[in-house]
Amino acid sequence: TRLRRANNIADLRLLARKRLPRPIFDYIDGGADDEVSLRRNVDAFSNYELVPDVLNDVSAIRTGTTLFGQLSRWPLMLAPTGLTRMFHGHSELAVARAAARHGILYSLSTMGTTRLEDLAQAFAGPKVFQIYIFKDRGLTAEFVARCRDAGFHGLALTVDTPVAGNRERDRRSGLSLPPKLTLKSLLSFARHPSWSLPALTGSKFDLANVSHKIDALASGPMSLFDYIGGQFDRSVGWRDVEWLAREWNGPLAIKGVMTPEDARRSIASGATGVMVSNHGGRQLDGAPAPIDQIAAVRDAVGDAPDVICDGGIRRGSDIVKALALGATACSIGRPYLYGLAAGGEAGVDRVLTLLTEEFERTMTLAGVNDIAALAPRHVRPNRA
Ligand code: FNR
Repeated sequence: TRLRRANNIADLRLLARKRLPRPIFDYIDGGADDEVSLRRNVDAFSNYELVPDVLNDVSAIRTGTTLFGQLSRWPLMLAPTGLTRMFHGHSELAVARAAARHGILYSLSTMGTTRLEDLAQAFAGPKVFQIYIFKDRGLTAEFVARCRDAGFHGLALTVDTPVAGNRERDRRSGLSLPPKLTLKSLLSFARHPSWSLPALTGSKFDLANVSHKIDALASGPMSLFDYIGGQFDRSVGWRDVEWLAREWNGPLAIKGVMTPEDARRSIASGATGVMVSNHGGRQLDGAPAPIDQIAAVRDAVGDAPDVICDGGIRRGSDIVKALALGATACSIGRPYLYGLAAGGEAGVDRVLTLLTEEFERTMTLAGVNDIAALAPRHVRPNRA
């Protein structure tokens, strides 16, 4: 009933804030440096007016589309997020089950807390694995092979993390991964027993997809997090994208592209799409809002590639705006994590139901009965 009374994503965010210890909530909610991009990602949507058509039969709205070569019931997918089990014990599996019920794509992060094979077994729906090009290319190649064997439909290569972003909320809160029991964190955990008791027992913080590596290393007390942190490679370039595209030979989106030039280069290097993204404002603070880059990116790549607007979507109307500007679909991170933290699978379900209802209502009021008919004339910048 708490979930039912949530009228929008903002309400679910507040429920998540109540349920989670503050350092964990801030890890989801926060961004890099001054959080300028984090705020702008959301605010930029209000710089576009929706210009409606009228007297167009809107008794039924067509919302189906193809993403990563897979059918999606409506133009939304779930972005990859690491450490999901930290927000709710039912983990990535709960999120994927909700995605399946709504007929949309789910993406699993390399930093996820569920093994990709286990996710694939539990979830028959269309799925994408978020991959990195690591220093050890063998590790990346191993992921490609595992994804193919497990039946993943696409890969999303994240390219906006050559180093970790500067998350000052995490520094202030003393969040360490996995969380350590400092006096401050103990106080916060004690005030949130429904989260803490199950979370602090059991292996909630295991990077399940790479944990076999640490056994193989047998090199003293290095933690999984140190190992994976040491695998980030600042020298990655376009040649590596070409290599990955050849290895995978299937739907591949480059996640973190912000400019028309890099979008064109992504497609020329063998990708089938781009996720226009600044990592939800968690990496380069000051980067433009994804929604403001969509029209130029679509213009650069032509009709065929997937162009996914990733970041700042908090209303169904945001999705309508992104599609009118040229996006194939949108993806969300924090909104579904708020839902998960607030109420597990039912919470994610609530988020997706709210966004679907908002999306369909906006399409109806805008007088557009098919997402394929959304066009630039349906949006207008309102900046003075
Ligand atoms: C992320 N994101 C992310 N991206 C990625 O490629 N790999 C990852 O492991 C993660 N992990 C992660 C954790 C958390 C807690 C958040 C909030 C985000 C970024 C994510 O895929 C997506 O780009 C943003 O979340 C989109 O912005 P919104 O929807 O959160 O505004």
